[in-house]
Amino acid sequence: MHYSRNSPIASEHRYLASTAVLLVELVKLLTSLTLAAHDVRKSHPNASFFEIVVLLRRSIFAPDSWKLVVPAALYTFQNSLVYVAISNLDAVTFQVTYQIKIITTVLFSILLLGRNVSSRQWMSLILLTLGVAMVQIPGSLSSEDWKGKLTSLIQGEGRPEMKPTSNALKGVMAVIAASLTSGLTCVYFEKLVKGSLGSVSLWTRNVQLSFFSLFPAFFVGVLWQDGAAISRHGFFVGYNAIVWLTIALQALGGLVVAVCIAYADNVAKNFAASLSIVVSYAASAIVFGTPLMLHSTGGATLVLIAMYLFNTRLYPRMPLLPTTKEK
Ligand code: C5P
Repeated sequence: MHYSRNSPIASEHRYLASTAVLLVELVKLLTSLTLAAHDVRKSHPNASFFEIVVLLRRSIFAPDSWKLVVPAALYTFQNSLVYVAISNLDAVTFQVTYQIKIITTVLFSILLLGRNVSSRQWMSLILLTLGVAMVQIPGSLSSEDWKGKLTSLIQGEGRPEMKPTSNALKGVMAVIAASLTSGLTCVYFEKLVKGSLGSVSLWTRNVQLSFFSLFPAFFVGVLWQDGAAISRHGFFVGYNAIVWLTIALQALGGLVVAVCIAYADNVAKNFAASLSIVVSYAASAIVFGTPLMLHSTGGATLVLIAMYLFNTRLYPRMPLLPTTKEK
């Protein structure tokens, strides 16, 4: 995503983020619609094509579908914030700062889902956040680099290799806002989906979510924010293969997140995302021979310890000694 916004092939007209956000929602809508139709066909094997369309329409526009308006608006806002952040920060700073969502997600899970988090689990979440941040910091960043980074953050300028229009402070503010929105919206969606999974399929919920997302994505993003630029340069200005790939990956990522939230939970989703970063680190060492860095390996170890601490109890559930009855 960062490459698509800042690479040299991104011509003099950078593509408009609002158009990409809209296209991602369209791709997710069509995919979810196909999967929802497949679900209806499975539960009504003898239904005709027309009957399937009627059943689908009835479940999508059910009386409670308005509940998806809130997450749709928030996710569209979050996706736009991510574009602001990634356009103003380098990929590493973005990824490291975005880990704040691990903590915001747990806070909202406690508030909205009444989830209990033990002190041991809190400790593991802090280790996880630190660990993921450490894995991602490249070894080449010397203390001078860090000083430069901090100075540019304070002065509100982007790194020298970024486009001259980049503003690091704006990027960090956007990433903090995106982390808060991520925690709130993902937990709200989890509450909604899990509360009705028996009666409404996940894909129907996703069709509703993408459908309502199209409105803010189109009216606020495309028309209001970028309307003038689109009428001057066209909807697809700056599009190339990398931009299309970014759109496809964003859509696929969103659908995978939906499955994670519905069948596991949001905290597990964030653990999985952290583990994927550790796996990529190990894989790039094995496949490409990338040298292992002490702090990154330390960070990877912290992630694994955090996963163990979060998912195991302090005391074993089964007594180690045979009970009196067994004796
Ligand atoms: O960074 P985070 O994990 O919060 O990102 C969640 C992403 O998943 C967002 O881009 C959101 O649009 C997407 N999503 C989705 N369908 C869902 C839930 C989330 O596309 N049902």
